[in-house]
Amino acid sequence: MSPAPGRFVSLEGGEGVGKSTQVRALAAALRARGKEVIETREPGGSPGAEAIRKLLLEGAGDRWTPEAEALLFAAARADHVARTIRPAMERGAWVVCDRFLDSSIAYQGGADGLGDEAIRSLHAVGSRGLLPDRTLLLALPEQEAAAREAARDAGKPDRFGARDTAYHSAVGQTFRRLADADAARWRIVDATGAAEAVTARLIDALADLL
Ligand code: TMP
Repeated sequence: MSPAPGRFVSLEGGEGVGKSTQVRALAAALRARGKEVIETREPGGSPGAEAIRKLLLEGAGDRWTPEAEALLFAAARADHVARTIRPAMERGAWVVCDRFLDSSIAYQGGADGLGDEAIRSLHAVGSRGLLPDRTLLLALPEQEAAAREAARDAGKPDRFGARDTAYHSAVGQTFRRLADADAARWRIVDATGAAEAVTARLIDALADLL
């Protein structure tokens, strides 16, 4: 639990599981319960981090080495935490974030093979180790997620979306491993079915924080 009065919730999962839609819907549901909520995303969420986002998502697949990529994600996160997340929490707001540290552990640490500890040590330096109060893993069968993603991107995936099935499977396995290892912070939420039903499951998974 964070010492600040606000609450910090992250949504995680591979491509095409519906995170962006659910960040909006969850924020609206929390506002309806009287909370001040900010919606944000990674990479991004502050002017500096949005500038880094463009460097990370655009260009050739091999534009960066995995090590440089991990440092860029950590740098974007450091700015986002300092300029957006901590100030919001300090004034008592809820922060609902589309991806956070665990995406770096899953993509750069797991699928790219840099390992959990390297990513956690970058986070200790960049963001003083800030962790969400709750991380919600949206779980969808791989084939369903791939179909949704293909429909959304219409043939124009970003540098990560364009990676192969084995890469995305490694991402998914790492998320599961992280969730299984820390049941206090994580909840795995079924992302199948109607968007409204998924939002209701997310709210249930925050019941002890409300
Ligand atoms: P998104 O806006 O579709 O979630 O795109 C962000 C992409 O960046 C997505 O493919 C996952 C990837 N990513 C990482 O590899 N590491 C990270 O730390 C974060 C936040 C995102």
